[in-house]
Amino acid sequence: MKIVGISGSSSSGGNNSRLIDRSLDIAKKRGFTVEKISLAGTSISPCTDCGACREEKYCPFDDDMNRINDILESADGIIVSSPVYFGTLSGQLKTMFDRTLPLRRHGFLLKDKVGAAAAVGGSRNGGQEYTIWSIHIWMHIQGMIVVGDGNHFGGIAQKDVDSDNEGIKTIEDTANKLCDTVEMLSS
Ligand SMILES: Cc1cc2nc3c(=O)[nH]c(=O)nc-3n(C[C@H](O)[C@H](O)[C@H](O)COP(=O)(O)O)c2cc1C
Repeated sequence: MKIVGISGSSSSGGNNSRLIDRSLDIAKKRGFTVEKISLAGTSISPCTDCGACREEKYCPFDDDMNRINDILESADGIIVSSPVYFGTLSGQLKTMFDRTLPLRRHGFLLKDKVGAAAAVGGSRNGGQEYTIWSIHIWMHIQGMIVVGDGNHFGGIAQKDVDSDNEGIKTIEDTANKLCDTVEMLSS
């Protein structure tokens, strides 16, 4: 079984990237295969609603998105972490979400995969809950099964995440809840 982690930040090795690493470490220790997608350095153009994916599964844009969609399709569980930008998810992540439309149009290929979310802000209450909600909306519209941290909504952290023990606990709980649910569904 496979868990895919997405860091929605353009900072490689930044706070979101490190949270995803922590989540994937947990999944790996539990015996899952893991794969990380970092949006840092990726090239993803905005969807132009050209309609090509009504016919073809692969988008005609020659960028990183067809590769990313293949990785998402290979997952049993997906954890997504976004920086809070002006109270919501990063533009890079929203652009990526929009470009997963071919997966929806070709038979809901993310349907019944388990999804979980995390958000990192510069402030303690900078919009993390709304950011998580925005990620959950994408998951619901893709037909995924959405989980939180078993208590609240998901991983909620403040930078610098490595010294945010309270935030780290929520991301660890979220990663474990994701793994628990994938295991439960496969048994
Ligand atoms: C354009 C921009 C908008 C931001 N808006 C918010 C915000 O509304 N609330 C908040 O708590 N932090 C805000 N921040 C801080 C980022 O959330 C924080 O730097 C980021 O989560 C760090 O993650 P990273 O190291 O993975 O990039 C903003 C940062 C940028 C660049």
